[in-house]
Amino acid sequence: MQMKKTITDRVSWVGKVDWELTTFHGEEYSTWRGSSYNSYLVRDEKTALIDTVWLPFAEEFVSNLKQTVDLNTIDYIIVNHAEIDHSGALPLLMKEIPDKPIYCTKNGIKSLQGHYHQDWNFVPVKTGDTIQLGSTSLVFVEAPMLHWPDSMFTYMTGENILFSNDAFGQHYATELLYNDLVDQCELFAEAIKYYANILTPFSSLVTKKINEVLDLGLPVDMICPSHGVIWRKDPLQIVQKYLAWADSYQENQITIVYDTMWNATRRMAEAIAEGIQESDGSATIKLMNAGKEDKNDIITEVFRSKAILVGSPTINRRYLSSIGAFFEIIRGLRFSGKKAAAFGSYGWSGESVKLMAEDLAEAGFELVDEGCRVMWKPDGDALDACRDFGRRFGQAL
Ligand code: FEO
Repeated sequence: MQMKKTITDRVSWVGKVDWELTTFHGEEYSTWRGSSYNSYLVRDEKTALIDTVWLPFAEEFVSNLKQTVDLNTIDYIIVNHAEIDHSGALPLLMKEIPDKPIYCTKNGIKSLQGHYHQDWNFVPVKTGDTIQLGSTSLVFVEAPMLHWPDSMFTYMTGENILFSNDAFGQHYATELLYNDLVDQCELFAEAIKYYANILTPFSSLVTKKINEVLDLGLPVDMICPSHGVIWRKDPLQIVQKYLAWADSYQENQITIVYDTMWNATRRMAEAIAEGIQESDGSATIKLMNAGKEDKNDIITEVFRSKAILVGSPTINRRYLSSIGAFFEIIRGLRFSGKKAAAFGSYGWSGESVKLMAEDLAEAGFELVDEGCRVMWKPDGDALDACRDFGRRFGQAL
């Protein structure tokens, strides 16, 4: 059972750490390190609750909240974002305090009504609207499509806290609450995975919104997201990371994503990697079998890459299903500024390489080679051709 955790004299964490979570968004997102649903209780002369938790923890959440605060003394409920992981406990909470006002964006009202079909006491807010709590206040900043139409941030004056909801979050379970107390490798691995897999399509909006908020010149002592740790040590470090990640991010890395039936395409991938190594010796090269590796981990590596190669044998005049799933994801994420080519083995018809090249182009990758095909199992000459292809690819970057 999670009890409240004190952040400042006026602000407490009243959320839920979900150590058992292994997938999120249904089965779309792997959460190897669990997650948390962060809810915050803000107490000045007036009391506000910012976001709730996911439905399975609604009873636990409301029960714990009752031990922290008389629910009738809550003056305002703030819904920064209506997605179920943050609003799931609202129906149970609203049964206890049905008349309390819910502050959210106009789109937030639509989302909440669409999900819960309740006519709660909604108060629509827009950027700049403010609730005076006492000596402190809450100021709302709409952040549409970061990552839903309803998303917004809430800034608390006096405490200088930005409640950023999903932005700057990580699916990362910890009891330690703060960024400076956890393993930094784990923290940033989860933060970049979260950005790569969820926020990539909205990168231009990320840049615009961050600059808009930075231009306000507000002091930021803490960033309190709705998943993972609170950024209290150098809180703007994650903002700077987001600006970098939103700007066609890439490292000196090449990722080879492939699947294979009888290891011919795997042997091609390995020979191509050797060729790249010869021509671009400083680049990190990673091989990932899409049939075996986690799709979100693959996407994170693609996000970090300056270029990718995609490989599959031909089957039924097409490519293997894991590669099809990979293309489905990258078409939606719309990476920019990355180069690519395709490769694969075949026995007779051999369509896979052409199809993969077309799909890479459609997903926004710049094709730098027409691709590499090998008939049947690659022999010494074919492996040499793959190495040549790898060298050419490395030189083209
Ligand atoms: Fe954490 Fe968009 O919900």
